[in-house]
Amino acid sequence: MEHVPSFFSRVGINVETYDLRTEQIMQGSAAQGDVEFYRILAEETGGAVLELGSGTGRVTWALAEAGIEVLGIEVQDAMLMAAESRRWKETPLAQEKASFDTGDMRDIQLDREFSLVLIPYRGFQALLDVESQRACLRSVHEHLSDEGLLVIHVFDPRLELLVEGSEREEELPILHDPFNDNVIEASIIQRELDRVQQVLREVWKFTELDGSREPIRQEEERLELRWTSRHEMRLLFELEGFEVEAEYSDFEGADPVYGAEQIWVVRKARGEG
Ligand SMILES: C[S@@+](CC[C@H](N)C(=O)[O-])C[C@H]1O[C@@H](n2cnc3c(N)ncnc32)[C@H](O)[C@@H]1O
Repeated sequence: MEHVPSFFSRVGINVETYDLRTEQIMQGSAAQGDVEFYRILAEETGGAVLELGSGTGRVTWALAEAGIEVLGIEVQDAMLMAAESRRWKETPLAQEKASFDTGDMRDIQLDREFSLVLIPYRGFQALLDVESQRACLRSVHEHLSDEGLLVIHVFDPRLELLVEGSEREEELPILHDPFNDNVIEASIIQRELDRVQQVLREVWKFTELDGSREPIRQEEERLELRWTSRHEMRLLFELEGFEVEAEYSDFEGADPVYGAEQIWVVRKARGEG
Protein backbone atom coordinates (compact mmCIF):
# COMPACT_ATOMS: atom_id res chain seq x y z
CA MET A 1 0.00 0.00 0.00
CA GLU A 2 2.93 2.39 0.73
CA HIS A 3 3.79 2.76 -2.98
CA VAL A 4 0.35 4.25 -3.72
CA PRO A 5 0.38 8.08 -3.73
CA SER A 6 -1.34 9.61 -0.73
CA PHE A 7 -4.78 11.23 -0.95
CA PHE A 8 -4.91 14.66 -2.63
CA SER A 9 -1.14 14.59 -3.26
CA ARG A 10 -1.37 15.13 -7.03
CA VAL A 11 -3.41 16.90 -9.65
CA GLY A 12 -5.77 14.18 -10.83
CA ILE A 13 -9.25 12.70 -10.67
CA ASN A 14 -9.56 12.73 -6.87
CA VAL A 15 -8.73 16.42 -6.44
CA GLU A 16 -10.70 17.41 -9.57
CA THR A 17 -13.87 15.63 -8.41
CA TYR A 18 -13.55 16.38 -4.67
CA ASP A 19 -16.26 19.08 -4.58
CA LEU A 20 -18.74 17.01 -6.58
CA ARG A 21 -18.11 13.86 -4.54
CA THR A 22 -18.30 15.70 -1.21
CA GLU A 23 -21.59 17.32 -2.17
CA GLN A 24 -22.98 13.91 -3.16
CA ILE A 25 -21.77 12.20 0.04
CA MET A 26 -22.99 14.99 2.31
CA GLN A 27 -26.45 15.24 0.73
CA GLY A 28 -28.99 13.89 3.23
CA SER A 29 -26.29 12.81 5.70
CA ALA A 30 -25.47 14.12 9.19
CA ALA A 31 -22.65 16.12 7.58
CA GLN A 32 -25.05 18.18 5.47
CA GLY A 33 -25.21 21.91 6.15
CA ASP A 34 -21.67 22.40 7.44
CA VAL A 35 -20.97 25.57 5.44
CA GLU A 36 -24.10 27.31 6.72
CA PHE A 37 -23.23 26.29 10.30
CA TYR A 38 -19.74 27.79 9.89
CA ARG A 39 -21.14 30.95 8.28
CA ILE A 40 -23.50 31.60 11.20
CA LEU A 41 -20.71 31.04 13.75
CA ALA A 42 -18.35 33.30 11.78
CA GLU A 43 -20.95 36.07 11.83
CA GLU A 44 -21.51 35.58 15.56
CA THR A 45 -17.79 35.59 16.41
CA GLY A 46 -17.34 38.57 14.15
CA GLY A 47 -13.66 38.53 13.22
CA ALA A 48 -11.34 36.78 10.79
CA VAL A 49 -11.56 33.01 10.25
CA LEU A 50 -8.71 30.53 9.94
CA GLU A 51 -9.52 27.28 8.15
CA LEU A 52 -7.01 24.46 8.60
CA GLY A 53 -6.94 21.84 5.85
CA SER A 54 -8.82 24.14 3.47
CA GLY A 55 -8.59 21.73 0.51
CA THR A 56 -10.27 22.97 -2.66
CA GLY A 57 -11.70 25.96 -0.79
CA ARG A 58 -15.22 24.49 -0.59
CA VAL A 59 -15.77 26.20 2.80
CA THR A 60 -13.33 29.10 2.39
CA TRP A 61 -14.89 30.49 -0.77
CA ALA A 62 -18.44 30.19 0.59
CA LEU A 63 -17.53 32.18 3.73
CA ALA A 64 -15.64 34.78 1.70
CA GLU A 65 -18.67 35.16 -0.54
CA ALA A 66 -20.64 36.06 2.62
CA GLY A 67 -18.15 38.88 3.28
CA ILE A 68 -16.11 37.04 5.93
CA GLU A 69 -12.31 37.33 5.92
CA VAL A 70 -10.90 33.79 5.71
CA LEU A 71 -7.40 32.38 5.50
CA GLY A 72 -7.17 28.76 4.34
CA ILE A 73 -4.08 26.74 5.24
CA GLU A 74 -3.45 23.55 3.29
CA VAL A 75 -0.57 21.06 3.17
CA GLN A 76 -1.16 19.58 -0.30
CA ASP A 77 -0.12 21.73 -3.26
CA ALA A 78 -2.64 20.03 -5.56
CA MET A 79 -5.50 21.08 -3.25
CA LEU A 80 -4.14 24.62 -2.88
CA MET A 81 -3.92 24.92 -6.66
CA ALA A 82 -7.51 23.71 -7.01
CA ALA A 83 -8.62 26.36 -4.48
CA GLU A 84 -6.73 29.16 -6.24
CA SER A 85 -7.91 28.04 -9.66
CA ARG A 86 -11.46 29.05 -8.65
CA ARG A 87 -10.46 32.64 -7.89
CA TRP A 88 -11.32 34.04 -11.33
CA LYS A 89 -14.88 32.66 -11.06
CA GLU A 90 -15.56 34.21 -7.65
CA THR A 91 -17.13 37.62 -6.96
CA PRO A 92 -14.85 40.63 -6.27
CA LEU A 93 -15.99 40.51 -2.60
CA ALA A 94 -15.01 36.84 -2.23
CA GLN A 95 -11.72 37.45 -4.01
CA GLU A 96 -10.92 40.22 -1.57
CA LYS A 97 -11.89 38.20 1.53
CA ALA A 98 -10.32 34.76 0.76
CA SER A 99 -6.65 33.96 0.89
CA PHE A 100 -4.77 30.68 0.93
CA ASP A 101 -1.35 29.62 2.08
CA THR A 102 0.62 26.45 2.32
CA GLY A 103 1.19 25.07 5.80
CA ASP A 104 0.87 22.18 8.21
CA MET A 105 -1.87 22.45 10.85
CA ARG A 106 0.52 20.98 13.40
CA ASP A 107 2.87 23.91 13.10
CA ILE A 108 1.19 27.14 12.03
CA GLN A 109 3.23 30.27 12.51
CA LEU A 110 1.11 33.29 11.75
CA ASP A 111 1.70 36.43 13.69
CA ARG A 112 -1.99 37.03 14.37
CA GLU A 113 -5.11 35.75 16.11
CA PHE A 114 -8.47 34.63 14.73
CA SER A 115 -11.91 34.67 16.31
CA LEU A 116 -12.90 31.40 14.64
CA VAL A 117 -10.70 28.46 13.67
CA LEU A 118 -12.25 25.66 11.61
CA ILE A 119 -10.99 22.16 10.88
CA PRO A 120 -13.87 20.97 8.69
CA TYR A 121 -14.77 17.63 7.24
CA ARG A 122 -12.34 15.14 8.76
CA GLY A 123 -9.18 17.24 8.28
CA PHE A 124 -8.18 16.55 11.90
CA GLN A 125 -8.36 12.81 11.17
CA ALA A 126 -5.43 13.15 8.75
CA LEU A 127 -3.31 13.55 11.90
CA LEU A 128 -2.37 9.93 12.48
CA ASP A 129 -1.06 9.95 16.04
CA VAL A 130 -1.80 11.61 19.35
CA GLU A 131 1.33 13.77 19.25
CA SER A 132 0.24 15.27 15.89
CA GLN A 133 -3.25 15.90 17.24
CA ARG A 134 -1.85 17.60 20.32
CA ALA A 135 0.60 19.69 18.27
CA CYS A 136 -2.29 20.87 16.11
CA LEU A 137 -4.37 21.87 19.15
CA ARG A 138 -1.37 23.75 20.62
CA SER A 139 -0.93 25.56 17.32
CA VAL A 140 -4.61 26.55 17.28
CA HIS A 141 -4.39 27.71 20.92
CA GLU A 142 -1.65 30.18 19.93
CA HIS A 143 -3.76 31.62 17.10
CA LEU A 144 -7.18 31.78 18.74
CA SER A 145 -8.40 34.94 20.44
CA ASP A 146 -9.46 34.65 24.09
CA GLU A 147 -13.15 34.79 23.19
CA GLY A 148 -12.69 32.85 19.97
CA LEU A 149 -14.05 29.42 18.99
CA LEU A 150 -12.52 26.33 17.43
CA VAL A 151 -14.75 23.90 15.51
CA ILE A 152 -13.56 20.40 14.64
CA HIS A 153 -15.64 17.99 12.57
CA VAL A 154 -14.69 14.29 12.61
CA PHE A 155 -16.74 11.12 12.21
CA ASP A 156 -17.94 9.16 15.20
CA PRO A 157 -16.37 5.70 14.70
CA ARG A 158 -18.89 2.95 13.86
CA LEU A 159 -17.72 -0.15 15.63
CA GLU A 160 -19.09 -2.58 13.04
CA LEU A 161 -16.73 -1.06 10.46
CA LEU A 162 -13.75 -1.70 12.70
CA VAL A 163 -14.22 -5.37 13.54
CA GLU A 164 -12.38 -8.33 11.98
CA GLY A 165 -13.71 -9.00 8.45
CA SER A 166 -14.82 -5.40 7.81
CA GLU A 167 -11.85 -4.81 5.48
CA ARG A 168 -13.87 -5.60 2.34
CA GLU A 169 -13.92 -3.78 -1.00
CA GLU A 170 -16.61 -1.19 -1.59
CA GLU A 171 -18.10 0.50 -4.67
CA LEU A 172 -18.75 4.22 -4.23
CA PRO A 173 -21.53 6.14 -6.01
CA ILE A 174 -20.84 7.08 -9.63
CA LEU A 175 -20.30 10.76 -10.43
CA HIS A 176 -21.42 12.47 -13.62
CA ASP A 177 -19.08 15.17 -14.87
CA PRO A 178 -21.31 18.24 -15.29
CA PHE A 179 -19.12 19.63 -18.10
CA ASN A 180 -19.21 16.62 -20.45
CA ASP A 181 -20.74 13.19 -20.81
CA ASN A 182 -18.01 11.47 -18.78
CA VAL A 183 -18.61 9.53 -15.59
CA ILE A 184 -16.26 8.82 -12.71
CA GLU A 185 -16.33 5.47 -10.97
CA ALA A 186 -14.68 5.09 -7.59
CA SER A 187 -14.15 2.08 -5.38
CA ILE A 188 -12.20 1.16 -2.30
CA ILE A 189 -10.06 -1.76 -3.44
CA GLN A 190 -8.03 -2.33 -0.28
CA ARG A 191 -8.68 -1.56 3.37
CA GLU A 192 -6.46 -2.13 6.39
CA LEU A 193 -7.18 -1.31 10.00
CA ASP A 194 -4.48 -0.63 12.54
CA ARG A 195 -6.57 -1.09 15.67
CA VAL A 196 -3.69 -0.26 17.99
CA GLN A 197 -2.99 3.13 16.42
CA GLN A 198 -6.68 3.65 15.46
CA VAL A 199 -5.71 4.24 11.84
CA LEU A 200 -7.73 3.24 8.79
CA ARG A 201 -5.81 2.82 5.49
CA GLU A 202 -7.65 2.47 2.19
CA VAL A 203 -6.69 2.41 -1.49
CA TRP A 204 -9.27 4.23 -3.62
CA LYS A 205 -9.38 3.51 -7.37
CA PHE A 206 -10.82 6.22 -9.61
CA THR A 207 -11.75 5.52 -13.24
CA GLU A 208 -12.93 8.17 -15.69
CA LEU A 209 -15.07 6.81 -18.57
CA ASP A 210 -15.88 8.80 -21.71
CA GLY A 211 -19.30 9.19 -23.41
CA SER A 212 -19.07 5.68 -24.88
CA ARG A 213 -18.07 4.37 -21.44
CA GLU A 214 -14.49 3.58 -22.41
CA PRO A 215 -11.96 4.15 -19.60
CA ILE A 216 -9.75 7.14 -20.35
CA ARG A 217 -8.00 7.63 -16.99
CA GLN A 218 -7.39 5.43 -13.98
CA GLU A 219 -5.70 6.48 -10.75
CA GLU A 220 -5.21 5.09 -7.25
CA GLU A 221 -4.67 7.03 -4.02
CA ARG A 222 -4.13 6.00 -0.41
CA LEU A 223 -6.41 7.44 2.27
CA GLU A 224 -5.23 7.34 5.89
CA LEU A 225 -7.46 8.51 8.72
CA ARG A 226 -7.29 8.18 12.48
CA TRP A 227 -10.52 7.51 14.38
CA THR A 228 -11.02 9.03 17.81
CA SER A 229 -13.80 8.41 20.31
CA ARG A 230 -15.82 11.24 21.83
CA HIS A 231 -14.25 10.92 25.22
CA GLU A 232 -10.75 10.80 23.75
CA MET A 233 -11.50 14.06 21.91
CA ARG A 234 -12.74 15.61 25.16
CA LEU A 235 -9.51 14.61 26.93
CA LEU A 236 -7.37 15.98 24.09
CA PHE A 237 -9.12 19.34 24.38
CA GLU A 238 -8.66 19.35 28.13
CA LEU A 239 -4.96 18.46 27.85
CA GLU A 240 -4.30 21.35 25.48
CA GLY A 241 -6.17 24.03 27.41
CA PHE A 242 -9.61 24.08 25.76
CA GLU A 243 -13.09 23.68 27.22
CA VAL A 244 -16.05 22.29 25.35
CA GLU A 245 -18.75 24.81 24.51
CA ALA A 246 -20.97 22.41 22.51
CA GLU A 247 -20.92 18.91 21.09
CA TYR A 248 -23.27 17.92 18.26
CA SER A 249 -23.88 14.94 16.01
CA ASP A 250 -25.06 16.94 13.00
CA PHE A 251 -25.05 20.52 11.75
CA GLU A 252 -28.63 21.06 12.93
CA GLY A 253 -27.29 20.88 16.48
CA ALA A 254 -28.53 17.39 17.43
CA ASP A 255 -27.27 15.89 20.69
CA PRO A 256 -24.41 13.38 20.45
CA VAL A 257 -25.51 10.01 19.05
CA TYR A 258 -23.43 6.96 18.28
CA GLY A 259 -22.06 6.51 14.75
CA ALA A 260 -22.98 9.91 13.27
CA GLU A 261 -20.72 12.96 13.25
CA GLN A 262 -18.72 14.56 16.03
CA ILE A 263 -18.93 18.33 15.76
CA TRP A 264 -16.98 20.04 18.52
CA VAL A 265 -17.23 23.71 19.37
CA VAL A 266 -14.56 24.58 21.92
CA ARG A 267 -12.92 27.67 23.38
CA LYS A 268 -9.79 28.39 25.39
CA ALA A 269 -10.27 27.28 28.96
CA ARG A 270 -11.05 30.33 31.08
CA GLY A 271 -8.07 31.54 32.98
CA GLU A 272 -5.70 30.31 30.23
CA GLY A 273 -3.60 32.78 28.32
C1 LIG B 1 -11.27 16.11 3.63
S1 LIG B 1 -10.36 17.53 3.23
C2 LIG B 1 -11.40 18.88 3.77
C3 LIG B 1 -11.17 20.10 2.89
C4 LIG B 1 -12.07 21.29 3.21
N1 LIG B 1 -11.80 21.82 4.53
C5 LIG B 1 -13.54 20.92 3.10
O1 LIG B 1 -14.21 20.91 4.12
O2 LIG B 1 -13.97 20.63 1.98
C6 LIG B 1 -9.05 17.59 4.46
C7 LIG B 1 -7.92 18.46 3.99
O3 LIG B 1 -6.95 18.58 5.03
C8 LIG B 1 -5.67 18.58 4.40
N2 LIG B 1 -4.65 18.23 5.40
C9 LIG B 1 -4.34 16.99 5.85
N3 LIG B 1 -3.36 17.05 6.76
C10 LIG B 1 -3.02 18.36 6.88
C11 LIG B 1 -2.08 19.06 7.67
N4 LIG B 1 -1.27 18.43 8.51
N5 LIG B 1 -2.03 20.41 7.55
C12 LIG B 1 -2.85 21.07 6.69
N6 LIG B 1 -3.75 20.44 5.90
C13 LIG B 1 -3.85 19.11 6.00
C14 LIG B 1 -5.82 17.59 3.27
O4 LIG B 1 -4.80 17.72 2.29
C15 LIG B 1 -7.21 17.93 2.76
O5 LIG B 1 -7.15 18.91 1.78
